[in-house]
Amino acid sequence: MTQDFDAPSLLAEREPNHSLPRPFYTDPRMFELDLERIFYRDWLFAVPACEIPKAGNYITYKVGLYSVIIVRGTDGVIRAFHNSCRHRGSTLCRNQKGSAPKIVCPYHQWTYDLDGRLLWAREMDADFDPSKHGLNPVHCRELNGLVYICVADEAPSFEEFAAQVARYLAPHDLTNSKVAFESTIIENGNWKLVWENNRECYHCAGNHPSLCRTFPEDPKLFGTGKEHSPVLDAHIARCEEAGAPSKFLLGENGRWRFVRMPLLGSSESYTMDGKVAVTKPNSSIPFRDAGALLLYNYPSTWNHFLSDHAILFRVTPISATETEVCTKWLVHKDAREGVDYDLKRLTEVWVTTNDEDRVVVENNQQGILSPGYRPGPYSSAQEGGVIQFVEWYAARLGRTFADPAALAAE
Ligand code: FES
Ligand SMILES: [Fe+2]
Repeated sequence: MTQDFDAPSLLAEREPNHSLPRPFYTDPRMFELDLERIFYRDWLFAVPACEIPKAGNYITYKVGLYSVIIVRGTDGVIRAFHNSCRHRGSTLCRNQKGSAPKIVCPYHQWTYDLDGRLLWAREMDADFDPSKHGLNPVHCRELNGLVYICVADEAPSFEEFAAQVARYLAPHDLTNSKVAFESTIIENGNWKLVWENNRECYHCAGNHPSLCRTFPEDPKLFGTGKEHSPVLDAHIARCEEAGAPSKFLLGENGRWRFVRMPLLGSSESYTMDGKVAVTKPNSSIPFRDAGALLLYNYPSTWNHFLSDHAILFRVTPISATETEVCTKWLVHKDAREGVDYDLKRLTEVWVTTNDEDRVVVENNQQGILSPGYRPGPYSSAQEGGVIQFVEWYAARLGRTFADPAALAAE
């Protein structure tokens, strides 16, 4: 770290309820801090479990310098390992996705079981102990069909979130779902700009004509939970009565939130005509206009669980000014394309919306790259969610400056 870069002072000097000082969005040294102190420490959403339904199915996921293999074992359990051989460190799985009965290193063919045990290593010395050279594990939890990982040696507590996922997602059968479509885009913007944009709908009317057909712009319906809306209250009461947990819940320093909001008017799903996209739903909610259960979990994911399908978004920082956004549409595993759903109808609103969001995030980044940028004020009426995100971020990073132990203690 060079002397002219003092992240704790930058953090201390920021003006509350304003966008962050320029280095937070542009400086590669700040980006490294974000990786080391947040992404390498916290639980991250990686993949839906239904994407690796059979023993030997695996997906690799790269976060910063870490490449992780997520694989289902013959016992049905999903585990994660560092994608680095215990011999001389070669990458084990070069593909993003695949299936294999064993994990075989391409370099000298050391062979691992799907549970990480080293099974075979050719002509090693007599004192070589295979049991000491199993794959290096990564913390991995499957929560109602959502697979989270944590690359830290010591993972933060996950129990409170896990308990709430179990409750809120109970009506949404992600385990018996499949990925109908996925899209991966790179947004040329800092990961925090992706989040700031996600946490407000101040920009929706001017940028999202397709989404605005069904998505309500009223921030009281999905914002910070500080203001109440009779429309939201009535929707929540109706859904809860039908057995679908829906109440606004903000947890653990504001890191995650659940709320089931109504869609506009009588809209049922994110389609151009507002009707369901999938006639064989993956939820057990007994009516179709149940709105969207909105979940975010900083720093890596936001999700929409609808009555007919679910959409999972994953945010992966690539550099100070690049972020990958991967989106997966989950439908019931037995829903047939062309019969129970039309792929274009299912995906067009959010494919379009993602691209529109990419454009506004990239414009935002370009403007901040100008030395003429100055942090500007957020609207508390419209950007309460952005204020909440930035406060979470500043507090999360700030705790690691104040107390290095906090690095591992969250
Ligand atoms: S590095 Fe993997 S077998 Fe040699
Ligand atoms: Fe948007």
